[in-house]
Amino acid sequence: MRNTLCAVTLLSVFSVACSTTSTQSPPATETVTASHEKKPWETMTVEEKGEVMNTVVMPKARELFSAFNPEKYGDVKCSLCHGPNPKEVNFKMPSTSLPKFAMSMFEEDPEEAKFMAEKILPFIADALGKKPFNPADGTGDAKCILCHRAE
Ligand code: HEC
Ligand code: HEC
Repeated sequence: MRNTLCAVTLLSVFSVACSTTSTQSPPATETVTASHEKKPWETMTVEEKGEVMNTVVMPKARELFSAFNPEKYGDVKCSLCHGPNPKEVNFKMPSTSLPKFAMSMFEEDPEEAKFMAEKILPFIADALGKKPFNPADGTGDAKCILCHRAE
């Protein structure tokens, strides 16, 4: 049930983007070096995952978050996604320090939810060798709950 609702609401978010950017150009994530071309994410050791985080995720996260809101996200560190004591929790995701995912996010904070759907989700999916959830056909294994706890 939640998935269905999610699809509908995400669809309305995406349709805004699709009307301007879809067909020709892929999302602005093609510059991310796809480290998974070497090895699938799931089979990497924690060290290898950390390496991907350092070399692929961090530079792009800095770029995207600070472009979206330099005041709020001017200083992106591992802790932005992993919480204040990442090592203590072994970089466990989804992070208890992030707000829980809720459908109401799309109404209460539309700008940020849209940024997440259009920029952050495609970027992290690409970095981990996954596909962003596509509300149009229900495909894609990377969802908001990769980082946010489920509702
Ligand atoms: C933009 C958000 C984001 C940032 C910033 C980030 N990470 Fe991650 N990280 C993730 C996500 C999402 C996962 C989990 C992917 C999954 O489901 O396996 C993850 C997983 C990891 C893992 C693997 C944990 C495990 O047990 O599988 C390590 C280690 C890690 N991150 C280290 C880091 C380090 C070190 C930094 C800073 C250099 C960092 N991360 C910055 C989002 C982020
Ligand atoms: C790669 C990890 C990641 C993914 C995937 C992700 N988010 Fe986020 N999200 C974050 C981080 C990090 C923040 C910043 C939290 C903070 O302000 O400290 C955030 C913040 C938000 C906020 C603002 C919360 C606030 O109170 O400031 C909303 C709304 C949100 N996300 C919705 C979504 C939605 C909807 C999706 C899926 C379309 C999504 N997120 C996917 C990491 C992620």
